[in-house]
Amino acid sequence: MRLRHIHNGKEILEAHPRVITAPEKIGKKLENVFDGSNPVHIELGSGKGLFIREMSKKNPEINYFGFEASTKVIFKWLKQIEEEGFLDNYFIVHSKAEMVRELFSERSVERIYLNFSDPWPKLKHSRRRLTSPMHLDAYGHVLINGGELVLKTDNHDLFQYSLDTLKKQNWTVKYFTFDLYNSEHIQTNVATEYETMFVEEGKTICMLIATLNDKQ
Ligand SMILES: C[S@@+](CC[C@H](N)C(=O)[O-])C[C@H]1O[C@@H](n2cnc3c(N)ncnc32)[C@H](O)[C@@H]1O
Repeated sequence: MRLRHIHNGKEILEAHPRVITAPEKIGKKLENVFDGSNPVHIELGSGKGLFIREMSKKNPEINYFGFEASTKVIFKWLKQIEEEGFLDNYFIVHSKAEMVRELFSERSVERIYLNFSDPWPKLKHSRRRLTSPMHLDAYGHVLINGGELVLKTDNHDLFQYSLDTLKKQNWTVKYFTFDLYNSEHIQTNVATEYETMFVEEGKTICMLIATLNDKQ
């Protein structure tokens, strides 16, 4: 199927074999969409999918889900995979990050990536930040013991808020840096679309890895 027009984007998404458009209606938890028991990693707010596409190539033994709320943005992702083809170890999920708790079983996800999430700078919108207590609670529910939350951002306020909230919500920040590109983690870093743009603009990139304490 050639993707030419965006006006019927919704129908194209619904028909695409790698897009899950109504994940709450598929009759099973998302981790069971894949055969076998490979670890599951998810990215929330994937944009046009560069990160998931690269990670799925690098790590064929991991099953990935890229969550993206915008039809238009997923359509652009599909345009790109039309050229390069898609791998069978990832799905695009047309859904909001807020659905994660409902869509996965408890302790079924090994890692959650938040890459350049919207910062929602106004205090009155702080609940929408993807590291607000409500979101961290949901991540804690679906992550396996020892599972990780990995966050990258150029936004220092969001980064500091995330560090503080994780601490308050009983998570351990195992690693953090305010300058990823001058850290040892740059060796294994896979850049996202926004990241590439921010680095070109001369911005520094913050990164943290956190795990929930004492998951019973
Ligand atoms: C700033 S872009 C970052 C895209 C990509 N992660 C990157 O680093 O290049 C944020 C993306 O998250 C999506 N998004 C924002 N809030 C979301 C939510 N609550 N659930 C799912 N996607 C969301 C937006 O549509 C947008 O494509």
